[in-house]
Amino acid sequence: MGCLYKVEGIGDDGLGYRYFTGPRREDATKGKFFSGVPTERRRELAAGTAKKYKPILNFKNMSDAFGNCRHEGGVEFSSGKKPTEFLQFILSIVGGGEYGYTVLDFFAGSCSAAHAVLDLNKQDGGNRKFIMVQLPEPCDKDSEAFKAGYKNIADIGKERIRRVIKKIQAEQAQAAKQAALPGMDDKPKALDLGFKVFKLASSNIKTWDPDFNQLEHSLVSATEPIKPDRSEADVLYEILLKYGLDLTLPTEKREIGGKTVHIIGGGGLVVCLAKNMTLDVVEKIAALKDEFKPETPPGMRVVFKDAGFAGDELKTNAVQILKQRGIEDVRAV
Ligand SMILES: C[S@@+](CC[C@H](N)C(=O)[O-])C[C@H]1O[C@@H](n2cnc3c(N)ncnc32)[C@H](O)[C@@H]1O
Repeated sequence: MGCLYKVEGIGDDGLGYRYFTGPRREDATKGKFFSGVPTERRRELAAGTAKKYKPILNFKNMSDAFGNCRHEGGVEFSSGKKPTEFLQFILSIVGGGEYGYTVLDFFAGSCSAAHAVLDLNKQDGGNRKFIMVQLPEPCDKDSEAFKAGYKNIADIGKERIRRVIKKIQAEQAQAAKQAALPGMDDKPKALDLGFKVFKLASSNIKTWDPDFNQLEHSLVSATEPIKPDRSEADVLYEILLKYGLDLTLPTEKREIGGKTVHIIGGGGLVVCLAKNMTLDVVEKIAALKDEFKPETPPGMRVVFKDAGFAGDELKTNAVQILKQRGIEDVRAV
C-alpha cells in the first residue's frame, strides 16, 4: 500500500518504463497507472496534425423495429421497407433539423423516409423536407398491398404520407385543445404538413408538327397550343419549371374580373391562362405589382395564354399597360 512501482519494458513513448502505485486504502483493490504520451502522438502534436477521435455508437439493436415495420404507416409493403426508428436514427446523426434540410429518397417504396421526416419534425419542431421518387411500379397481384386496393407502389407511398399527416394533424388539434385549458399554455409548434405530387410527363405545349394533308385541321389545332388532356395546374407547374422556380413556392389563386389568376412566390410570377382576356383584367393584374411589391430584380413576371387574347392589337395593348407599370417580363404560352 502506498508503494510506487517502476515497471521496465513497457510504453511506446521512448522512455521504456511506466510507474504504478499500489492501492491507497486497505479496502481498495486498484492502484494507479501513469501513462505518457506516445511518441507518434507527440510528433503529430508538434506537426499540428493530431486528431481527436470520439467513438460513436456503432451498434443499435433494431431487430424488433425491422421485424415489426411491415404494417408501419398503416400500409402494407413488404419489399425492403425500413422502420422509421432506423431512418430517424440516421437523421439524428445529421442533426440540424431546424435548418430545414431536404431528405431525398430515389427509391421511396412506401415512403418510410417521408414518414420518418414528418414524425421527427413533430418531435423536435424541425423544418426538414422530403422528396420521394417512386416509379408507378405495379403491385404484385398476390401481395397484401394489391388486395388492399393499391395498384402500384407510388399509390402506397402517397397514401402513407396522407395517413401520417392526418394522424399528426389530429394530435396537433388535441394538443391545441389541451393548451387552451386554464393554466396550460404549451401550444403545439406550427408544422409544415403539406405535400405535392408530381408525375413525370412530356411538355403540356403541343409541338408544331403539321399534317400537310390536313392543313386546315393542323392550323386550327395550333391556335390552342396546350394539349387537350392537360389541366391548368399542369401548365402552371411547367411554367415554374421553365423559369427554374421552386415547385414548393406558395401559390395563391384569385378571381380577377371573372378570370382565374395565379400569384406565385409573393407576386414574383403572375399567371393567367384564361380565354377572352380584356384590358380591364390586364389593368387589375398590373395593379398586383403595387399590392405585392415583389423584390427587384426580376420584379413581377407575367405569363398569359397566347390564345387568351382575341387579336394582336389587344395583346400589344396589354403588354403596353404592363410596361407602364414597370412590368417588362411579359410572356405568352
Ligand atoms: C426497397 S424499396 C424502398 C424502400 C424504402 N426506401 C424504405 O425505406 O422503406 C426499393 C424501391 O425502389 C424501386 N426501384 C428499384 N430499382 C429501381 C430502379 N432501377 N429505378 C427506379 N426505381 C427502382 C422499387 O420500385 C422499390 O419500390
